[in-house]
Amino acid sequence: MKNIKIAVDGFSSCGKSTLAKQLAAHFGFVFIDSGAMYRAVTLFAIENNIISEDDVVDINKLKKEIKNIKITFQTIDGKNHTFLNGKDVETEIRQIRVSKRVSIIATLDFVREEMVNLQRNLSEENSVIMDGRDIGTVVFPNAELKLFVTATPEVRAQRRYDELKAKGEDVNFDEIKANLINRDRIDSTREIAPLKQADDAVVLDNSNMTREQQFDFAVKLIEKILA
Ligand code: CDP
Repeated sequence: MKNIKIAVDGFSSCGKSTLAKQLAAHFGFVFIDSGAMYRAVTLFAIENNIISEDDVVDINKLKKEIKNIKITFQTIDGKNHTFLNGKDVETEIRQIRVSKRVSIIATLDFVREEMVNLQRNLSEENSVIMDGRDIGTVVFPNAELKLFVTATPEVRAQRRYDELKAKGEDVNFDEIKANLINRDRIDSTREIAPLKQADDAVVLDNSNMTREQQFDFAVKLIEKILA
């Protein structure tokens, strides 16, 4: 069987990763979380004083450091973990202090270039399902299937709130909602690789769908490709 690529793009906290992980497990594909990479670079920038409290980025310093930022993934107890220079940062990269700054870091051309290279390298020899913002438009323009996932801001904020709360994080619903609306705005209007639906993408509005329903919807589409 030839290796296939499936792109899952869409707005912040719309359940892309959940869907992509379920599909990867079901079909035996490799799951790649491209957002985790931008989050890891952002955490690096925070920890190394490359981005200030008021979100000013030291571009020259980040440019110098970017080649020293090693992002890898490992599956631990069936869960995907992101490593930054050898350290497990899976929990830290989901914290609001990272969410608040990641879209700023993700506008930078040299950061995107590195991340897209890494995304393509990790995908070379496997069937891959990758979630992000520009997977169907930039990373894999020839993907066999492109899904564009969306849901209302209220539903998305509630899902992210529940997710962080379940992890024991101290979270505020309004802050989360404001953050995802702000990220959507930055992601959709940036110059390089903005978040937009690819012409040949299938839209999946899951506002009123359960996880099982959206999974079944996508499974049918993938089965058609594999048939
Ligand atoms: O999980 P959530 O949808 O909240 O976000 P994510 O997928 O972890 O992505 C975090 C941020 O990384 C996004 O808001 C974008 O700014 C950036 N990103 C990107 O620019 N391109 C991608 N392919 C993936 C993420």
